[in-house]
Amino acid sequence: MTTCPAPVRPLADDAAYELTTLAAELLARHSSATSPELRAALPGACAQLPDAIRHALRPVDTADGLFVLRGLHIDDRDLGPTPGHWSSAGEAGALWDVTLLLVATLMGTPIAWDGQQDGRFVHNIVPSPGHESEQTGASSDVLLTPHTEDAFHPGRAHLLLLCCMRNHDNIATTAASIRRTALAPADVEQLKRPVVPILPDDAYEEAQQFAGRPAPVPTLFDAPGGLTMRFDPAYTPLDEADTEWREAYRRLEDELARVSVAVSLEPGDVLVVDNDIVVHGRVPFTARYDGTDRWLKRASAHVEDRPTRPAAERHEHGYGQAALTAGAA
Ligand SMILES: [Fe+2]
Repeated sequence: MTTCPAPVRPLADDAAYELTTLAAELLARHSSATSPELRAALPGACAQLPDAIRHALRPVDTADGLFVLRGLHIDDRDLGPTPGHWSSAGEAGALWDVTLLLVATLMGTPIAWDGQQDGRFVHNIVPSPGHESEQTGASSDVLLTPHTEDAFHPGRAHLLLLCCMRNHDNIATTAASIRRTALAPADVEQLKRPVVPILPDDAYEEAQQFAGRPAPVPTLFDAPGGLTMRFDPAYTPLDEADTEWREAYRRLEDELARVSVAVSLEPGDVLVVDNDIVVHGRVPFTARYDGTDRWLKRASAHVEDRPTRPAAERHEHGYGQAALTAGAA
């Protein structure tokens, strides 16, 4: 893995000010960052924002499949302690929840899941006692294996947005783009075959109980702009696959490790990841559990009419989970 700076899109001070002022107004007008009325007001509110913000948030446009929006100012002293668990976050950092929802709305339509973090549209990613070794955002001690966000589901996000609240120990998010790999054509062909399913991750207890038969899904797909990927080895029953496929999958893992970059986010950074091109993860770290731990806010967005996925996905059951959209709330 190389430590290399992700493409940075600067947000000028006046644009950052307009964005956070609008977020503060929305928050003042509605009772909570989780208010459905606030979510319904997002598209109209975004229309007031200047073109400079819209330009900075144009679609991901390089083979890296990601960028860092930099220019929002978060004062650590105003934040309060890092929550010990997502369920106790409440309105902590609510201004940044709304700011992130505005960013997500400028790039697409924010989505959420009934079965994850109580249906919240902005998740709090914090290390939590007892979850150190899991493959979820609450872990710390272990490498969070590179994965497509919500890979088990056909309604998964096109874009993943991570806003850094606090990261005193410079704990890196990892990212690897399928468009930077150099796989042999025969391996690409193998991995376009639907051979094994991707199962719901540990953040979805209800989906894990779903009785329906899991459908095998392809790992790679030839989209008009290049290859796209659906990948989550920690939740893929690899030993059910044939040898040729397994070997190709292992070579894909090796290639993703080779091209992986480590992005250490600073407070106020928003990492925008194209979830069809890039898998993301996190390096291991030792949690502090003293209110100063690494703290990210996470939002996800759909982008209309993106030809990045096989049409057959539409028939998947999604393990009984449905994506909620901000407009429909
Ligand atoms: Fe993730």
